Amino acid sequence: MTITKKGRVFSGARPTGRQHLGNYLGAIKNYVALQEEYQCVYSIVDIHALTTVETTENLRQNIYEMALDWLAAGIRPEESIMFVQSQVPEVTELHMFFSMVTPLGKLTDLPTFKEKARQQPHNINYGLVGYPVLMAADIALYKADAVPVGVDQAPHIEFTREVVRSFNFRYNTNVLVEPQMKATEFPKVVGIDGQQKMSKSLNNHIELASTPDETRARVMQMVTDPQRMRRSDPGNPDICNVFSLHKVFSSPEEVAMIDTECRRAGIGCVDCKQRFAKNLNLSLEPFREKRVALSDKPERVWEILDDGRQRASQIAQQTIRDVKDAIGLP
Ligand code: TRP
Repeated sequence: MTITKKGRVFSGARPTGRQHLGNYLGAIKNYVALQEEYQCVYSIVDIHALTTVETTENLRQNIYEMALDWLAAGIRPEESIMFVQSQVPEVTELHMFFSMVTPLGKLTDLPTFKEKARQQPHNINYGLVGYPVLMAADIALYKADAVPVGVDQAPHIEFTREVVRSFNFRYNTNVLVEPQMKATEFPKVVGIDGQQKMSKSLNNHIELASTPDETRARVMQMVTDPQRMRRSDPGNPDICNVFSLHKVFSSPEEVAMIDTECRRAGIGCVDCKQRFAKNLNLSLEPFREKRVALSDKPERVWEILDDGRQRASQIAQQTIRDVKDAIGLP
């Protein structure tokens, strides 16, 4: 089964707990699909989380909830490796080796670093500066060929390629693999405010695990075409967030109908959102069923993560050995 696969995919996500529609369309959906063609390694990057979180109180719970959502969405743990970053500590070793081939200025120039520094001026810690080095170590440790991420992560993938190249050049080796970025097709899912990227911290998200009623209530709050003031005004689906999501969750016929009717005020925003809520709930039904079944046995999720840890460790230990040999370390 694995012999025919094209290569290895690696991706990571910070443990943010219950996942929302933005996480699903921006990452998870792609993770699930890639399992057909690649050997996939998916990491819950809890060490990365430490660069920004103020309290670790919910860390374990957030790891568990995220793992649960990934499994319910269709990550197949028998085929793919799903694990917690901190449980395979070799990544911190590679991070340290990479730090020796990383010019400091390159890190402080990254737009992602500048953004974080702006967001938390009181906490510009060493780990935050080194965030991309740890991410490069994640990817290189598993010798990934491809990394599915959103476009906001493009500078980090480019950085990873440069570090790998520098490492291989410095130690005159080719043990490490320069990964390709695989941009997700749905780079930015806008929240129910119709403006900002969907995120838990902005509370503009729709959780995958919420009940059908909660989901409907959330959908009914969504901001539609901001220029359409009255029901009798013709709308513009091209600038409506609800319409962009209809395209994902509704049938082509229904999408075409809404497109036409909205433009001539044949359908109103309330009706349009009710339809969306219905279709979204229908699509989420198998996910919810699976999630409920899995959450019946929480220890099973931790066992799956532990099995992932073991399989990830085997790859990681071999890479560290190769890396040390290349450097000349005993
Ligand atoms: N930086 C990524 C994000 O914020 C998370 C991440 C950590 C990651 N390590 C990774 C993504 C390795 C891909 C590969 O979304």
